[in-house]
Amino acid sequence: MDNANLPALFSLQGKVALVTGATSGIGRRQATVLASAGASIVAVARRRTELDSLCDDISGAGGNCTAIEADLLEADCDALAAQACEAFGQVDVLCNTAGINLREPAADITRASWERTLWLNLSVPFFLARALEPQMRERGGGRVINIASLQSERAFANSMAYGASKGGVAQLTRAMAESWSANGVCCNAIAPGFFPTELTAAVFANDEISKRNAGQTAIGRNGDLADLDGVTIFLASAASSYITGQIIYVDGGFTAK
Ligand SMILES: NC(=O)c1ccc[n+]([C@@H]2O[C@H](COP(=O)([O-])OP(=O)(O)OC[C@H]3O[C@@H](n4cnc5c(N)ncnc54)[C@H](OP(=O)(O)O)[C@@H]3O)[C@@H](O)[C@H]2O)c1
Repeated sequence: MDNANLPALFSLQGKVALVTGATSGIGRRQATVLASAGASIVAVARRRTELDSLCDDISGAGGNCTAIEADLLEADCDALAAQACEAFGQVDVLCNTAGINLREPAADITRASWERTLWLNLSVPFFLARALEPQMRERGGGRVINIASLQSERAFANSMAYGASKGGVAQLTRAMAESWSANGVCCNAIAPGFFPTELTAAVFANDEISKRNAGQTAIGRNGDLADLDGVTIFLASAASSYITGQIIYVDGGFTAK
């Protein structure tokens, strides 16, 4: 292979990526790195100031970003998908990254908190992807990137709802791949280990737990958000065109041990 083709393999020039949960943590990082690879970004979350700051950062670096302020627990996913497609004319890559972990002991889980977790973490990824898949298919393909978790495979304390949602995300990813890949829409999930974000602030604030988590990896440290850059660009780009239905653990070898 000619080395000159390498940049093209990973380029997202002319592509549009919709990233949910783009105001912080993993979603913000994904939006920024996808923009740096050439994609125009449609950023979705609730917090207006953080959305504006992301768009400023991306446009300041020469990219394109538009924000849709939406509460995904309330939003109509079909309408949101249509609004997202209007921004730049299409959506080629969907990053289903918004998520919550309420960390409730089983006895404290209510129907409302259970449904909140399952709806945001599992149902929204399905309904948004289903709404966006037809226009991806019409253009010959696209990408869905879900966010799974160590809890797609492992059980952690106080995490029944979250674990159920992330176990569901792993199987949803395979089912999406089965349905849509023949039309060029590859569907995969990234399963991060422990990364410092708002969601894991309590875990990282506890030095003992943080060190214990790091010690359970093969590499010997917890994740940096930059560790997700490569896999995000890879799964969004032509480089991953024969990969679908996979859950890719970016966990420093946590699940290998
Ligand atoms: N950090 C880790 O170690 C880790 C490990 C495994 C999996 N994950 C997964 O990675 C994903 C991102 O998590 P993170 O760690 O980056 O957490 P984070 O920093 O707390 O980000 C969560 C994002 O979701 C958005 N969000 C939450 N509720 C929403 C709602 N009702 N409507 C719209 N957006 C909403 C938040 O934006 P607004 O508040 O502005 O709405 C925020 O942008 C989640 O699916 C999480 O389960 C994280």
